[in-house]
Amino acid sequence: MIGKLNHVAVAVPDLEAAAATYRETLGAKVSKPQALPDHGVTIVFVDLGNTRVELLEPLGEASPIAKFLANNPAGGMHHVCYEVSDIRAACDRLKEKGARVLGAGEPAIGAHGKPVLFLHPKDFCGTLIELEQT
Ligand code: CO
Repeated sequence: MIGKLNHVAVAVPDLEAAAATYRETLGAKVSKPQALPDHGVTIVFVDLGNTRVELLEPLGEASPIAKFLANNPAGGMHHVCYEVSDIRAACDRLKEKGARVLGAGEPAIGAHGKPVLFLHPKDFCGTLIELEQT
């Protein structure tokens, strides 16, 4: 069911510093910052050719990554995103298998304008998983 790795998301306390580390120390291609107020994050993409890393910094009071950063002040890997061709079918299958879909339990429009859902880390080896319909 799952396809390619779309991105790995890393939560960071300081996006400018994190972008500089990837650009200057790791020699990576890093995009300009993009504020996504509806999703409570500012992001940059690190383009790796085969996939990308997204660096996420909290934006606003109710940022979904605020608690994660409180527990991981230096930052850390937040989620992995796998591609699926049919998010509705994926959602139904996962629920049938007993997996917990976070939030309202239904696909929603994600940070990239495409349908996504998030799965409970306790059901998936301690990793928060995002599925994105591509
Ligand atoms: Co993501």
